[in-house]
Amino acid sequence: MKVLATPEELVQFRRNLKGSVGFVPTMGALHEGHLSLIKKAKKENDFVIVSIFVNPTQFLPGEDLNKYPRKLQADLEICKRAGVDGVFTPNPQNMYNEDEITIKAPKIKGYILEGHFRPGHFDGVLQVVNKLFNLTKPTKAYFGKKDAQQLYLIKQMVNNFFFDIEIVECETKREKDGLALSSRNIYLNETERKRALSISKALKRAAKLSSKITDIETIKKEMLNILDVDELQYIAFVDRNFNFIKEIEPNNTIILIAAKVGKTRLIDNIFI
Ligand code: PAF
Repeated sequence: MKVLATPEELVQFRRNLKGSVGFVPTMGALHEGHLSLIKKAKKENDFVIVSIFVNPTQFLPGEDLNKYPRKLQADLEICKRAGVDGVFTPNPQNMYNEDEITIKAPKIKGYILEGHFRPGHFDGVLQVVNKLFNLTKPTKAYFGKKDAQQLYLIKQMVNNFFFDIEIVECETKREKDGLALSSRNIYLNETERKRALSISKALKRAAKLSSKITDIETIKKEMLNILDVDELQYIAFVDRNFNFIKEIEPNNTIILIAAKVGKTRLIDNIFI
């Protein structure tokens, strides 16, 4: 496995790969969720490239950029064992210039929900993913459904910028009790972790109810009864294109939650 520290090294490495390339972009602190993406990429491609980069432009001032978990050695070990061919580990200096051309997330769908609570976050995500796609030139790129709005916007960027890349949507990995895997779960203490479980429970209940009723207000009420969080930022019902909906649309609905438990901000969703 090659560790590629600079864009130049990655470009050189990529030039020598003859065959399909699966790409898994990450911010490191790899867990089973990332591993499932890597395994899928491995199965479906001749080569796999993983990037590990805590991208500063997608963090807002006051967010957890500095304390975001960094575990490079452990991550490299996981990648090696999973049979990854190349791991890209750049630093902000070799990824960004001081005054550079930027990409803006779409004005509406980039600024609702996650974009409302984290304005500018998706500008940073799209900027870095654009760079990463140009460097890795993947055949397929793998993203988790847990970041559903990110996944939607990346698909839109692929369309809008005519990238010849297939975006593969991967199921959210969960702990046995339902908690969605996230690198930020390590911030939760034992009590908070228990309370955080109310998020996946509320979503599960909503999915069950929506097989019988389509009225969103009724479903939302039930979810609010289950949720045990410190700050509920949103419960939202959208279609697969992130348009807000008034009634459940079977096979075309995503229910999303963002909430803080203690100081930790968590997101989760369910596709129904
Ligand atoms: O989902 C993430 O981990 C990040 O947003 C991504 C796609 C790696 C871009 O930094």
